Amino acid sequence: MSDATQIIAIDGPAGAGKSSVARAVAQRLGYLFLDTGAMYRAATWRAMHHGIDLDDGEALAVGTRAMELILRETDHGQEVIVDGTDVTRAIRTPEVTRLIYKLDQNSAVRRHLVALQRRMGERQPTVAEGRDIGTVVFPRARCKIFLVASLDARIERRARQLAGKGVEVDRAALRKEIHDRDEQSRNRADSPLRQADDAVLLDTSDMTYEAVVEEVVRMASEVL
Ligand code: DC
Repeated sequence: MSDATQIIAIDGPAGAGKSSVARAVAQRLGYLFLDTGAMYRAATWRAMHHGIDLDDGEALAVGTRAMELILRETDHGQEVIVDGTDVTRAIRTPEVTRLIYKLDQNSAVRRHLVALQRRMGERQPTVAEGRDIGTVVFPRARCKIFLVASLDARIERRARQLAGKGVEVDRAALRKEIHDRDEQSRNRADSPLRQADDAVLLDTSDMTYEAVVEEVVRMASEVL
């Protein structure tokens, strides 16, 4: 089992701000930023790219194990490289997002990605974010935070993010997408999204991004 001493585990539903907060906290503390959602996205992109039948669980597992995955922090954010191809943007498309559930419900896929995550987190102090970090990946992490925000706040944040990238925003579609992903994460049999018993709940609905980062750094400094 991984060393729990210097791991900050951040879980929560889609759009709660986990990625941006985890990245900022990692930068502040000089920790590795581990974006586990990017790993499920990368595996999904690869399966689609290779034309794998997404209902063939065995083929998905074999494909995921064969994936050569590199996550690299750069000055302009994280780069994701799959089998030598830069898929940083490709893994964020709506098609990939919509189909991730085909892989994230697959226990063999999860087992492989969790093993990779543990290996990465063992090497250095890490801020890991996802859905099952505090419950499954690093259950002994001393700092566990469950980040939530109201559905309305999450829709607003996503809408602003998309608008900033020049993408046209359909709020009704966003609401459905976020709601559906919540349901899928919470209701799957393997590693459902839930707050670990020893995680601290942080509701960020009425907090600025900067305030959330400060609060997480403060919480981490109390236990690490
Ligand atoms: O955080 P994100 O939106 O990039 O995550 C993409 C999907 O991957 C999300 O819908 C659920 C899944 N996921 C997961 O099952 N377990 C994780 N630890 C991280 C993400």
